[in-house]
Amino acid sequence: MALKVAVIGAGTMGNGIAQVFAQGGHVVVLSDLDGAALERARAQIDRSLGKLAEKGKIAAEDRTATLGRIEFTPDLADVTAADLVVEAVVEKLEVKRELLAELDRITKPATILASNTSSISITTLAAATSRPDRFLGMHFFNPVPLMTLVELIRGLQTSAATIASGKAFAERLGKSPIVVKNSPGFVVNRILCPMINEAVFALAEGLATAEDIDNGMKLGCNHPIGPLALADMIGLDVLLAVMNVFYADFNDPKYRPAPLLKEMVAAGYLGRKSKHGFYRYD
Ligand code: NAI
Repeated sequence: MALKVAVIGAGTMGNGIAQVFAQGGHVVVLSDLDGAALERARAQIDRSLGKLAEKGKIAAEDRTATLGRIEFTPDLADVTAADLVVEAVVEKLEVKRELLAELDRITKPATILASNTSSISITTLAAATSRPDRFLGMHFFNPVPLMTLVELIRGLQTSAATIASGKAFAERLGKSPIVVKNSPGFVVNRILCPMINEAVFALAEGLATAEDIDNGMKLGCNHPIGPLALADMIGLDVLLAVMNVFYADFNDPKYRPAPLLKEMVAAGYLGRKSKHGFYRYD
């Protein structure tokens, strides 16, 4: 059965989430305050569907049909009929809290509300609504159309039925969900970011060159990309922010950000986006 799905926030993640739900045959409303973001989203989704059609992953006629299932709107009132709302707006607690309270007010009582946050507590966000049992984290990975994992985050108040619905939604998109208790970084970032941080310590201690550290993890652990090259892709500022959250939230020195990481961020060496990180991208 096709669901009515609303996605709020038409940035990097919201685009991808709207696209995969539309590809799954659902009727989607994609809403953003910023009209220009909606225009960029439409172009990006069309481009992404075009690439999938070229590769034969979807039929050519599905490109238009899929895009036709997405309504792009700046008006939040257009999402009231949704069965599921996934918010993917900026990573700011106050913005999300206000938006969720409003969504709670305008949607049907049975509507499930979800957040794609990567670092804010699902328990805290659920508490901004009057239906915390019908609230969960649905943490998609970038780029959403290609990455099959979805972390389903169970806040303290999330009901078993809501997790079961989240699982069913994700599986119908062809995704492979894992269920995770609410905790900073959930599972993937909790393990990935300290691993990368440790690679920065190893570099700073002169254990090996950046190339050798990356080759070690690629050839020794079958990782598709080395930790330092991955840090450059993620952005060293983003990585430092995550480690600072872990350090503060767990109160545990094992999450101490590597001093070299802090210094590189202070220098403006942020990775690919500044053309200078552990490698140069001139
Ligand atoms: P983005 O900055 O690309 O897009 C955010 C969009 O939200 C913007 O278009 C902005 O106009 C819109 N927006 C802001 N306030 C709004 C409001 N009140 N109502 C409607 N729209 C509003 O951000 P991105 O990277 O897509 O991240 C979105 C969320 O997804 C964040 O919570 C982030 O932590 C999470 N996330 C990001 C990943 C990534 O790789 N970028 C991966 C997984 C999760």
